[in-house]
This record gives sequence, C-alpha cells and structure tokens, in this order.
Amino acid sequence: MNKIDIRPYELQDRSFLRTLCCDVADRGGPIENFFPDREVAADLLTKYYTDYEPQSSFVAFCDGRLIGYINGCLDNRRYGLVVFWLLMPALLVKSFKRGLFFRPEIHQLLQGVLKNWRRIFIWRKKSFHSHQGHLHIGIAGDFRGQQVGQQLVKSLVAYADKLGMVELTASVHDANKAASTFFEAQGFVVRDRYPMVLIREGKEEHYHSLLYVKTISTH
Ligand SMILES: CC(C)(COP(=O)(O)OP(=O)(O)OC[C@H]1O[C@@H](n2cnc3c(N)ncnc32)[C@H](O)[C@@H]1OP(=O)(O)O)[C@@H](O)C(=O)NCCC(=O)NCCS
Repeated sequence: MNKIDIRPYELQDRSFLRTLCCDVADRGGPIENFFPDREVAADLLTKYYTDYEPQSSFVAFCDGRLIGYINGCLDNRRYGLVVFWLLMPALLVKSFKRGLFFRPEIHQLLQGVLKNWRRIFIWRKKSFHSHQGHLHIGIAGDFRGQQVGQQLVKSLVAYADKLGMVELTASVHDANKAASTFFEAQGFVVRDRYPMVLIREGKEEHYHSLLYVKTISTH
C-alpha cells in the first residue's frame, strides 16, 4: 500500500477539498443525491473552514491525491456569526444568480429547513452560544477502512488540546452506522438526538441527527 501523509490544510488544497466534501456529503455518497449545485453546496459545507479558520483543518494525501479531510472549528460562536452574517447572505445572492431558486430540489430543501426550524433556530442556539468546537470528516470511498479517519481525528484533537479546548462535537445521521461506529471508536459519545426531516423526491425522510461529543481535556 502507498504511503498516506496527514498534514495541516493549505490554500492549494482548497478546490480538492471542496470536491471531496461534495463527493461524500450524503452519508458517504455524492451531494447530488439531494442538492443540485456543487458550487453552492461546497460554499455551504466548506467555506467557513477553508476561508475563515483554515488553521483548524487537516488533510490526507496519497500519491498527490487528496483522499481525506477533517474540517475543524474551535469556536462555535464565531462560526455561527460568520455563517449567519457573511456566508448566508453571499450564498443567497449566488444561488439566485445561478437560478437555484427555480429548482424543485431547492424548494424541497427549504421545506425541510422550515420543518426543522426548532432544531436549527432553538437547539442550535446551545452550540452557537458556546465557544466549544465541532468537526466534519470525509474519506474517499476507496480509502475507507485504512485508519485515515482515525489519524485525522487524532491530528485535530491534539491541535485542539494544545489550544485548551474542552470538547469537540460531530453531527451524524442516525442511518450512518459506519460513522457512528467510527466516532464511538474514537471516544465520542452521544449527547443529544435531534429529530430531523429531509424531503427527497417529494417524500419526507424522518431521521435523527446524533450529536456526538468527545471530551478532550479538563483544563
Ligand atoms: C466515517 C469515516 C470518516 C470513517 O473513516 P475511515 O478512515 O474509513 O475509518 P478508520 O479506518 O480510521 O476506522 C477507525 C475505526 O472506526 C470504525 N469504523 C470505521 N469504518 C467503519 C465501518 N464502515 N463499519 C464499522 N466500523 C467502522 C472501526 O472501529 C475502525 O477501527 P478498525 O479498523 O480497527 O476496525 C468514513 O467512512 C467516511 O468518510 N464516511 C463518509 C462521510 C461521513 O459519514 N462522515 C461522518 C459525518 S461528519
């Protein structure tokens, strides 16, 4: 097997990271399963991490190919403010210019957001008002099961520990059993379960979003 290198994220990784993130966004499958525009999806999923807190992300490479990433945020309150006041307004304009609001998938997604308002606007308040951190992780399909995810979590946890973070969270769709087993193997435990609705092809998909927490240290 060829050597896999883990290192901090650099600007030159940006477009590869955006692509990989969209490739694995639907519980390991492509974002197009429920969202039609990669450019907008990549902004939504990665722009905070790559452009506003790039020092907290790590990437994995094999033979010059980016095969894994972990996007970290070590201040949820800052994340909430940047996303709400800077990223969302720009994304709405971009989506409008790209004709996204005429796409039926977007109407379905917005219906889902309305149905999830309780989680998004009330429960989320808990995390946006804390200065704790969270993460998103993705490994290319052909590199899963080779301890890449485990090494990326270790890198972020060591970095967060050095900066005095107390805990990190990760949100997981409850049908994503591989991710649940993975996070439990890394010492994460479920703190909350939020009921959610996603509308796909006109059908409501009910699930729970599991909030996994890892205690890093007690400083
Ligand atoms: C979940 C994910 C990040 C795991 O990364 P990975 O590199 O494949 O995982 P690792 O090889 O480091 O696995 C570490 C441990 O996690 C557990 N694990 C990982 N994948 C598993 C799977 N498919 N089934 C069961 N357990 C699994 C195992 O305990 C494993 O240890 P072992 O190899 O000694 O048995 C990867 O499958 C992925 O990118 N999935 C798609 C995106 C996603 O779901 N992200 C999580 C939501 S933020």
